[in-house]
Amino acid sequence: MLERFMTGASTYSSSVDHLIFLIAALVGFWLIVAEAFFFWLMFRYRYREGRTSQYVTGEEKELKRWISVPHMLVIVCDIVIIVGAVKVWMNIKQTMPPAEQTVRIYAQQWAWSFVDPGPDGMLDTGDDVRTVGELHVKVNTTYHFELLSRDVLHSFCVPAFRLKQDAVPGRTIRGWFRATRPGTYDIQCTQMCGMGHGVMAGRVIVETPEQHAQWLQRAANPAFAAQPAVSPSAPSATQGAQLAEVRP
Ligand code: CUA
Repeated sequence: MLERFMTGASTYSSSVDHLIFLIAALVGFWLIVAEAFFFWLMFRYRYREGRTSQYVTGEEKELKRWISVPHMLVIVCDIVIIVGAVKVWMNIKQTMPPAEQTVRIYAQQWAWSFVDPGPDGMLDTGDDVRTVGELHVKVNTTYHFELLSRDVLHSFCVPAFRLKQDAVPGRTIRGWFRATRPGTYDIQCTQMCGMGHGVMAGRVIVETPEQHAQWLQRAANPAFAAQPAVSPSAPSATQGAQLAEVRP
């Protein structure tokens, strides 16, 4: 449903959207009820000639119910939200479906770089493909990622996948995604990481198996390494990569 406003391109994007909608609907309902009641009270008991104010201690049973009943109902809504949130959390963060492919992601001030396992499907072998600012993945393929930071805290965020994961220096953080729709999607760092945080962007390019094979073939060509991995149409990613290069 949120996909009408924001592309959803992973297997779990709709479950995150449903959770956000559930929270917005429950919180929105109580906001409207509370505000409507508040303004009705103000109107109903507005100043009138000859009407005196009432002293209410709030200790009368029938008055206490105005607090305790909505309180209980709000707690029931909280439980509904917690159950829904834990289910989504378990599915995305606590359960790793078997990997069909594993990639490595490096965050650094202020660019993203990626290691693709290459044709042999294994990381840390001679045919690994390294890119800056662009992550190439196959559609309908379960990817595990190993997320590392070379310097400070960053956060790897792909809004279209509804994926966000902090990168912590000294740790290798594993996660997963499975893209469902070919296309090009934004990557944005979402953890304040210094002067270039705002331009620390990149792109995920979700390809069909044929397109991905073609890209791998091009990447195996020695001329590929001599070319900048970031295309001119991604100015922000280029800026980030340039900032990263000028660092000592
Ligand atoms: Cu990296 Cu913000």
